[in-house]
Amino acid sequence: MVIKKSFNNSTLFYSIVSAPVQCLYSAMRNYLKADTIRTQHIMTGTTHGGARSMGLEDITDYSTSVNPLGMHHTIYNTLRDVLDQSTEYPDIYNTSLEQDISKYLGIKPEYVTATNGATDTIYNICRHMTQKPVLIQFPIFGEYVTAAKLYNCNTILQQTDNITRDKDKFIQAIPQDGCVFVCNPSAPTGRLACHSTIHDIIKAGKDANCTVVVDECFIELTPDRDESVLKYVKRYANLVIIRTMTKSFGLAGLRVGYCIANDTITKGIRQYRIPWCIGTVAQTAAKEALKHPEHITDAHQIIRTQMPFMYNILSESPYMEPIRSDANYMVIRTKQLATTIQNKLLKRKILVRDCTSFGMPYHIRISTKTHDKNKILCEQLIESCRV
Ligand SMILES: Cc1ncc(COP(=O)(O)O)c(C=O)c1O
Repeated sequence: MVIKKSFNNSTLFYSIVSAPVQCLYSAMRNYLKADTIRTQHIMTGTTHGGARSMGLEDITDYSTSVNPLGMHHTIYNTLRDVLDQSTEYPDIYNTSLEQDISKYLGIKPEYVTATNGATDTIYNICRHMTQKPVLIQFPIFGEYVTAAKLYNCNTILQQTDNITRDKDKFIQAIPQDGCVFVCNPSAPTGRLACHSTIHDIIKAGKDANCTVVVDECFIELTPDRDESVLKYVKRYANLVIIRTMTKSFGLAGLRVGYCIANDTITKGIRQYRIPWCIGTVAQTAAKEALKHPEHITDAHQIIRTQMPFMYNILSESPYMEPIRSDANYMVIRTKQLATTIQNKLLKRKILVRDCTSFGMPYHIRISTKTHDKNKILCEQLIESCRV
């Protein structure tokens, strides 16, 4: 069994020279178990951005995990009305939007910093952490490593697909005077950790004078359990939470994200925010979306029924192994390379996420849409995974 580790223009990937699938899994696990992976030599860069980034048209996109209901219907009318304001500059620092977000969350506006998607926030935080040691839960959304490396942070990856189980090991790896990134629920697996686990990490971070950034970008689309650490923001000056309206309110193309942290750290992060970073159209859509929190609870109804529906159908296939998720997306272990499955499905006008860039070349990720669309996805997926 040989695993060849190689670096292409942007991602770490593994190619199999020869091996049965089972062997590959155990070798992958051993490799990733390598406790802490230093990333000095890992090339980074965004490899995925949904159908539009791939130049695809007429495709049903299950690769990005946004609200299955899309945008709230009232946003369309609001946007028509605001288009003629587009020759004017937008609200320079998104003040009115931040006030609305703070009301929506029930916290002080001074704690909220709105940005051009959560990705913009990730870059601002890493810039604030320039040259500091940064511990990142791995696998995770790729922009954490990219941004940390851009700002010459000493980047350390801690492999874990279960932060609850691996909490002690993770806490031991927390650097002094640095920063930690964790994702809850985790991406790509969708496993939701209990808030007390994240609280322990925040406390350990405080003792090490370390900022703890908790990515909660999918937490609003994770029904039934409230495991957010929002309630700790006031108490812990080292806590930053990242959220995004691109997922929860289906505004991925409009780009609105934000971070929540107490005043001191917020002031630090805001230094790097670019003026007018969110356009008028996006600010207006976001303000309208926040008037309809029921849009998220309506999405919960779909997620609650559709995720088990898809899991049950797919787990009957001998050619794949879906992994249970608490969120609106699910990782599936496949017998063929994820790239092969993705290509087969593209011929059927379906896009799924190839998880190779997460270091998982035999896994794909799908997200839930409405029942009829999910049925089609499952049928096509079962056909495409057959070997
Ligand atoms: C875990 C996670 N955090 C943050 C982001 C960035 O979200 P945004 O579209 O708001 O930049 C993503 C995007 O896929 C993500 O998966």
